[in-house]
Amino acid sequence: MSRTPLVRTAFVGTGHRAQLYTRALAARPGRHMAALCDPSPTRMAFHNRLLAAAGEPAAAQWEPERFADLLVKEGVDEVVVTTVDAEHDRYIVPALEAGCRVVTEKPMTVDAERCARILETVRRTGNSLTVAFNYRFNPVHEKVRALLAEGAIGEVVSVHFEWLLDTRHGADYFRRWHRDRQRSGGLLVHKAGHHFDLVNWWLADTPQDVFGYGRLAFYGRAAGERHGLRREYERAHGAGPAADDPFALDLAADDTLRALYLDAEQDDGYLRDRNVFGDPVTIEDDMAVLVRCTRGATMTYHLTGYSPWEGYRVMFNGSAGRLELEVEESRWQRPTTRVTSRSGALHGDTAAEHAGGARLTLRPLWEPPVDVPLVTAHEAHGGGDPRMLDVLFGPVGGGAPAEGAASRATATERDGARALAVGLAANRCFETGRPVAVRELIDGVWD
Ligand SMILES: NC(=O)c1ccc[n+]([C@@H]2O[C@H](COP(=O)([O-])OP(=O)(O)OC[C@H]3O[C@@H](n4cnc5c(N)ncnc54)[C@H](O)[C@@H]3O)[C@@H](O)[C@H]2O)c1
Repeated sequence: MSRTPLVRTAFVGTGHRAQLYTRALAARPGRHMAALCDPSPTRMAFHNRLLAAAGEPAAAQWEPERFADLLVKEGVDEVVVTTVDAEHDRYIVPALEAGCRVVTEKPMTVDAERCARILETVRRTGNSLTVAFNYRFNPVHEKVRALLAEGAIGEVVSVHFEWLLDTRHGADYFRRWHRDRQRSGGLLVHKAGHHFDLVNWWLADTPQDVFGYGRLAFYGRAAGERHGLRREYERAHGAGPAADDPFALDLAADDTLRALYLDAEQDDGYLRDRNVFGDPVTIEDDMAVLVRCTRGATMTYHLTGYSPWEGYRVMFNGSAGRLELEVEESRWQRPTTRVTSRSGALHGDTAAEHAGGARLTLRPLWEPPVDVPLVTAHEAHGGGDPRMLDVLFGPVGGGAPAEGAASRATATERDGARALAVGLAANRCFETGRPVAVRELIDGVWD
């Protein structure tokens, strides 16, 4: 009896996010985790312990410099990229050239040059690159798309979109590599890329012109001193002034954070718990963006990184009414330096202690408003993660990915580029004070 050959998968970047994929692939019988690649042997060993706990054999551990050898020697069919954002292209390109299917975490990359290199490689090789925009798979977001597509508010004329990150999750971007623009592209690339992709997908349109203002107004040394929030320490672990700082992260208090980061510091010096009111921080924490889409719809967007509550509000104004979505992911945060989550997550994997809910209201012209019934999940990015994994890797227990709306939500390299373009354009505006036509930055994905 012939058996379907196992898909041999390699993972690059074995930090926090990679846990999702390690567990997911271990639960799918058609896949074998062949290799891990990361500068930190300690973090790779952590992932091998996850595999052992799932009854799977250990994956080979490889240094980043030997990635080309890894692809050949491990006979890899598929690569999952979960490294820091600025390193994604370094693995996407050779993996595509080696004939692998590639799934990369968002953002696809962090600048226009790297993006052009990725697009050119996909075109030249014809191989498949998927960007893991998990927010598309959230059932609430799918409902929004379905309502807009069926014309529930007629022609969409404008979108008003506000996203709030609270002082637990938002602060976390200022403790580690995200605070360095060279590594993350800034929050409009790293975080708002999700939101720009959603709007592109919801409207089935593409961005054309972008303008924006942004600044570092809350985190960083200067703002922290100005607002009386800064305490004198470089990193929280072992620092007396951090002991009761509500912005400090206690790595030792959480088994996963300790194992992934504290115990791995000797490998590469990665500090996961730096003072959010320290230097240097080269990204913004408050950003206002204006976008005009190709078919004429406009979007006003605001990202706040230091809010008392976390969630978002999106309003669509249409020729036949208005659609309003409000999601409260956390209503407030208790000041604490203790980490209480599963798997070291500060957001996303588990419901916040003070989570609110989601409300979607359709307000047709000349008719009373309708509360649209929703299936909501607080876990795993609103239920987006497990649904995305089923589409990308097939259902748990085996079998082919289901066809239908969810599978059509899969984002390609073109979607990755279109989302990135808005963030890059706004970042350029912050420097020049002038609007930017996105085609000036990224080419070949607007037809
Ligand atoms: N879609 C989502 O909801 C979501 C959520 C969290 C993170 N992410 C994405 O996942 C990726 C990883 O984020 P994370 O929170 O796990 O970060 P992390 O810091 O926990 O892990 C990053 C890993 O990359 C490794 N790394 C650093 N330099 C490398 C290099 N040159 N080559 C190979 N590996 C290298 C680090 O050693 C670390 O193990 C990011 O791209 C992030 O945007 C996505």
